[in-house]
Amino acid sequence: MHVLGIETSCDETAAAVLRCRNGACRILSEQLASQSSIHARFGGVVPEIASREHVRLLPPMVDAVMEEAGLEWEALEAIAVTAGPGLMGALLVGVSYARAAGLVQGLKVLPIHHMEGHLFAAGLSGAMPAFPFLTLLVSGGHTLLIRTDGVGRYSLLGQTVDDAAGECFDKCARLLGLPYPGGPAIAGLAAKGDPSRFALPRPMLHAGGLNFSFSGLKTAVLYRLRELGEPDAGTRADLAAGIEAAICEVLVAKALRACREQRIPRLTVAGGVAANARLRELLRRGAAKEGIALSLPEGRYCTDNAAMIAYAGILRLQHGLEAPQTWDARPRWPLAVPA
Ligand code: KG4
Ligand code: ZN
Repeated sequence: MHVLGIETSCDETAAAVLRCRNGACRILSEQLASQSSIHARFGGVVPEIASREHVRLLPPMVDAVMEEAGLEWEALEAIAVTAGPGLMGALLVGVSYARAAGLVQGLKVLPIHHMEGHLFAAGLSGAMPAFPFLTLLVSGGHTLLIRTDGVGRYSLLGQTVDDAAGECFDKCARLLGLPYPGGPAIAGLAAKGDPSRFALPRPMLHAGGLNFSFSGLKTAVLYRLRELGEPDAGTRADLAAGIEAAICEVLVAKALRACREQRIPRLTVAGGVAANARLRELLRRGAAKEGIALSLPEGRYCTDNAAMIAYAGILRLQHGLEAPQTWDARPRWPLAVPA
């Protein structure tokens, strides 16, 4: 089975072709164009610019991945496209393209939830845990603890009550004068810093069940910076390390708590923040200590990509989950209902 995946929900244009045979999946071709340098000078993604870039980049990119995969269109089983959540204009570019291509080539089009793509990213390296498993899903807009009982069967165990973890990285980076996206920028600076110098809050570490809160951390960083005035390079690195440690410790503690409470010793992590080396190391250590099997997607499949969208499409087809009769791009689209 071959599926073409298309992703245009935010500021990454991506296309990929996946082949699955006898349960084993292989990425035949993939391309990704990040617009982050275009949006960096605005301090965040500008929706109108993102849509225009997708329009420019997507059609030749799809031609290129089809050619590299060495496939004719009729060899495809379906086109899987991110239908939400995300920026409406950006989503519409991918969805319109997929629909038009589907119509012309006589292929079915599968609307994929972007977070469902993230959720199964570990499967791209053959590391999908058995059902049921838990996932710490941490991206720019979401911080979720999800229980997965099967494809399309998700329940929400916890989520952020304010900022997402990635958003906290991005906002703190901005306070430190670092470029967007802030996560990799903070991680780079933090590598040279001392995480114990600044005692930053660990919001809701011991409270709030499995929910998270990150807006207080950003405010604490703002006050620290006001006290410090013009911090030197070493101080900025220490602060970055303190921010990274605070965010990661809370994420790991709650993910492990969820495994204990649900009595499910299988955990995956997904979304852009899951590329963070400190988070991965803390998760590895915590999971090993508690006898939890941890499935980590490769770093490049944590951030937005099209292979994960194609893979979610393949899983849906394999589980008999076809597209609904009518559907459209959905900028807001919850993945799971509260447990
Ligand atoms: O999943 P993603 O690529 O896009 C969304 O669906 O949101 O996640 C982007 C988020 C951004 O907030 C970015 O700062 C964060 O992931 N991020 C990281 C790292 N790489 C990306 N955060 C911490 N450490 C990283 N290495
Ligand atoms: Zn994403």
